[in-house]
Amino acid sequence: MATLLAEENLLDPDLFPAEQGPPHRLFDRWRQTDPVHWNPANPSYVGGMPGSAGVKGFWVLTRYQDVFDVSMNQAMFTSHDGIVLWDVEGEELERQRANFMVMQPDAHSAVKKVIMPPFMPRALAELSPEVDKLAAEIVDRIAPRGACEFVFDVASILPVHTFCELMGIPPQYRDQVAHYGNEMADVESRTSISMDPMIGLFGLAQQMAEEKRRNPDGRLLSVMVNDTTLNLDPMMINQFVLVFAMAGHETTRSTAAHFMYLMQRHPDQYALLRSDFEAHIDNAIDEVLRFTSTTTNFVRHAVADTMIGDQPVKKGDKIYLSYAAANRDPAVFADPHRFDITRANAKRHLAFGAGPHICVGARLAKMQLKALLQQIVTRLPEYQLAGEPEWLRSIWFNAIIRMPITFTAEHSA
Ligand code: HEM
Repeated sequence: MATLLAEENLLDPDLFPAEQGPPHRLFDRWRQTDPVHWNPANPSYVGGMPGSAGVKGFWVLTRYQDVFDVSMNQAMFTSHDGIVLWDVEGEELERQRANFMVMQPDAHSAVKKVIMPPFMPRALAELSPEVDKLAAEIVDRIAPRGACEFVFDVASILPVHTFCELMGIPPQYRDQVAHYGNEMADVESRTSISMDPMIGLFGLAQQMAEEKRRNPDGRLLSVMVNDTTLNLDPMMINQFVLVFAMAGHETTRSTAAHFMYLMQRHPDQYALLRSDFEAHIDNAIDEVLRFTSTTTNFVRHAVADTMIGDQPVKKGDKIYLSYAAANRDPAVFADPHRFDITRANAKRHLAFGAGPHICVGARLAKMQLKALLQQIVTRLPEYQLAGEPEWLRSIWFNAIIRMPITFTAEHSA
């Protein structure tokens, strides 16, 4: 692993497993000496998203303020030319432009207006009892066993169920949607860059859309399919299902796993949380989001020659928004590598991005995390890690994908 780090190239899916997360040693150094850092293409990197032609070099932003400013400025730093590291061109780019996350500002605002209601506080308050009930059921299933693999036996189930409920994805399709979403997030472990998961998911999306056309049910997918002001075409519906299958699952699941891991690594913080769960949990979730930055980056492209700080960038250059580096910037977070659930400004983290494309599911994610962690902390408080967790090979997600735990089994009365 030392040689990989010596190359100092972020295009290396072994980097996160080697560092147990993003390479903060590099980010810290770059932030101090070269805050807008050029990361060249890596000829030995062969991973990729389906449909991608590879990854060209890019500018890495390591300062909080730069990540924030660029995120706010769609006019100069567009999402429309792609938001993930993997480059796409030509027909594939056109296809991906049907994705809500990369729409031009006017189209994006129009779609956002239609999809936001279920993510607003009132709708979430209505959904909350269902989320609490499901969190309890998930823990009911493992509690008598005394041991489980936390990531897929526990953390994965709640986000999948919740976004499927919210979208109106019928129960018989849920496992498949989750499976394809995982496959898309786990692009680095496939030996060939195959389109299979995307094709599979799009096929499923069309089938579900057809059902919603015949039987509208007022849920999000039905609203999207039947909305006569937007008239979304089938590819837009496909991309929409894809966004939720990835964004609504992997991220929340990984944050729950990181939370559990960090509480074991920092017993003092765990003791504090246990001493008054209600008082500390919200800030603790924000601190875990800050500290781990599950989604480590998205990208933007410069629409004209411009400057970021003192660094000139050229029209078309790709800009890597390092949420991970921004969230450890000492200019904003004092002693940034210290994990502190009482940190006064933990909420300022950029783990959900910023600006017009800020995460629409942020409140939902926090609600689910709180529900699940309440069950764990109150019912299985003495849990222990049963071995070192395994990290996802990825240049994008900081994710634990396997974490066996043990705990005192709960006996039914
Ligand atoms: C801990 C959990 C989560 C994290 C860390 C996270 C992270 C992010 C980030 C960084 C963005 C910004 C993208 C950009 O600027 O280009 C984003 C956008 C988005 N997220 Fe999340 N997310 C999480 C949970 C969720 C959930 C639960 C959902 C839905 C069920 C969701 C749906 C979305 C959508 C639809 C967007 C696109 C917003 C837009 O382009 O306007 N996310 N998320």
